[in-house]
Amino acid sequence: MGNLQQEIQRLLVLRKSGGQKAVWLSDHNRTALHSVPAGNQPGPPPARAVAPRVPPPAAVPPPAVPLAVQDFRQVSPAVSSPAGAGGVAQVADCSALGWEELQYAVQNCCACQLAAGRKQVVFGEGSPQARLMFIGEGPGEEEDRQGRPFVGRAGQMLSNMIKAMGFERQVQDPARAVYIANIVKCRPPQNRNPEATEVQACLPFLQRQIALLRPQVIVLLGAVPLRCLLGLVGINKYRGSWLDYQGIPVLPTYHPAYLLRFEQQKSKFVEEKSKVWEDLQKVMARLKT
Ligand code: URA
Repeated sequence: MGNLQQEIQRLLVLRKSGGQKAVWLSDHNRTALHSVPAGNQPGPPPARAVAPRVPPPAAVPPPAVPLAVQDFRQVSPAVSSPAGAGGVAQVADCSALGWEELQYAVQNCCACQLAAGRKQVVFGEGSPQARLMFIGEGPGEEEDRQGRPFVGRAGQMLSNMIKAMGFERQVQDPARAVYIANIVKCRPPQNRNPEATEVQACLPFLQRQIALLRPQVIVLLGAVPLRCLLGLVGINKYRGSWLDYQGIPVLPTYHPAYLLRFEQQKSKFVEEKSKVWEDLQKVMARLKT
């Protein structure tokens, strides 16, 4: 029954993320959905996954019974419903999700207007054991195309910085692994800054990623993550200073895209890049202790 139950749950999540408020299930599927998953079977926690049994209405002939709206919430409290024009329909409650469930919820999110313009959702990547986390702003064109964070020109620069620090993007070894995520998971049009409603809709996902990872250090790349995660304005003011997010040391530095702006002005480029390198050396020192 386990696989069928999970499959039904997945379908319900998808339907809900598409805005559907109720579905009809056959007796067989309803029984599968409401069955308690065996002890260590993967999937949502039983208390949340098992919806209260809804008695079939007398007038409806078998085999279908309505699944109440409430049942959708039981099945997937994490998936937000579609947004109206420019607004946030429902902020996701993902505070109890594991990595897999979280990724599934993010992939299917339609909570803000960015969903309409995306090619791919960019969940984030790296090792769930990483001690070091980088947080950027949101996917750009190349990230949207590939569904991976920091794979464009700014990403190349970030990868080089990570290597210079003695870490690697594609390794699982906790000693050298990193995790990379963004404030918003879908590309804002023309790479504009994410709007407040978009950040509001998406931030619970990042907060859950941080809670699951519990890195030893977080590096914020630029003004947007500084403002959105910590509510602080002014990257020039805070760059290179140790801050705190729920007990995790946080260090803001310039975004690699900011450095790329000075590529044609050699001395300014070197000057700004060395500030970032100074910041990253603080991070390396902290991770050694
Ligand atoms: N810039 C960001 O902030 N994030 C990405 O993933 C890519 C570019």
